[in-house]
Amino acid sequence: MATPSILVTGGAGFIGSHTVVALAEAGYRPVVYDNFSNSQQSILEGLRQILGYEVPCYVADCTHRGALLEAMEREQVQGVIHFAAFKAVGESVQEPLRYYRNNLDALLTLVEVMLELGVHDLIFSSSCTVYGEPEQLPVTEHSPILPAISPYGNTKQIGEEILRDVVRAGKPLRIISLRYFNPIGAHPSALIGELPIGVPNNLVPYITQTAAGLRPELVVFGDDYPTPDGTCIRDYIHVMDLAEAHVAALRSLERLGALASHYDVFNIGTGEGASVLDVVRAFEEASGNALPYRIGPRRPGDVAAVYADATKARDQLGWTARRTLREALADAWRWEQRLQTLAPPNTESH
Ligand code: UD1
Repeated sequence: MATPSILVTGGAGFIGSHTVVALAEAGYRPVVYDNFSNSQQSILEGLRQILGYEVPCYVADCTHRGALLEAMEREQVQGVIHFAAFKAVGESVQEPLRYYRNNLDALLTLVEVMLELGVHDLIFSSSCTVYGEPEQLPVTEHSPILPAISPYGNTKQIGEEILRDVVRAGKPLRIISLRYFNPIGAHPSALIGELPIGVPNNLVPYITQTAAGLRPELVVFGDDYPTPDGTCIRDYIHVMDLAEAHVAALRSLERLGALASHYDVFNIGTGEGASVLDVVRAFEEASGNALPYRIGPRRPGDVAAVYADATKARDQLGWTARRTLREALADAWRWEQRLQTLAPPNTESH
């Protein structure tokens, strides 16, 4: 049988590019589809160096029906992993229409094109943000879905609902939504990793840029939360573990055999919570550098603690996170150091 081609929308992005590696390692033929609105061509070169060949890449938007159709037909795509979306929480509050238009239009167009071409298998990037501030920890897939705090989070909730409804209507689609916790780290080769534009919003890129001297200090957003050390708790997962979860999800869809319609959802996290100060300490150990930081005010919209119960993914997908927080931080640091050798410091703010 020919190697199955898998379309990876947003395949040049942070999680997408690492998933391309995991797919190739698992014997699939990944095809990147990316509009490069928040990613860079240099990632394709990194992929080429890791894999030893050039990954096919279509530079186009998911809302462009004709381009999507053509790429999927030409590459004889058998499954899709859909990462392409805007993902900045704060920006989504400022520009809700742009977020709803882009994230939902891309998903709707993709699903329509899949149905038109008879492509059945889809993995959708969802987020633990759907759980809001959970009453019980760890969160399982049955934990209540709370009203989204941001338009970004809402696009994930609505995305899940659209997919569930399409499957309920009996359309021939087999879909898994993966609810990611906090992806961090980079490929251990340091050839691909996260490329934040401007000042990073997320904790780990902020830490690595601080350690690299691009930022004077980390501001820890609040130490008066009801957690053991007062700082927020999250479930930080190595991006390669997360990437491998997509392969496990795809395989589980293939095991369904002739079953035409299927929808399911899985938490993808380590099951362990780490506080902001735990991450700072683990980074200091992994990098051998002291990290300058100070405690600042809380960031609006942050929840005190959220971490996954990932037993469903373990039991049904046969997937579990294997890499440690320290490994993830060491890989993130190696990537940051490599970035500094490639490009002039990226310290602009916007
Ligand atoms: C956020 C989004 C989430 C998204 C994820 C990845 C929210 C509510 N959630 O998660 O939907 O999927 O990013 O893009 O925005 N922190 C600091 N100082 C910093 C930066 C962060 O103390 O300079 C703290 C935060 O308060 C938080 C933790 O570090 O407790 C993690 O923050 P971050 O990396 O931004 O991720 P989330 O907010 O959990």
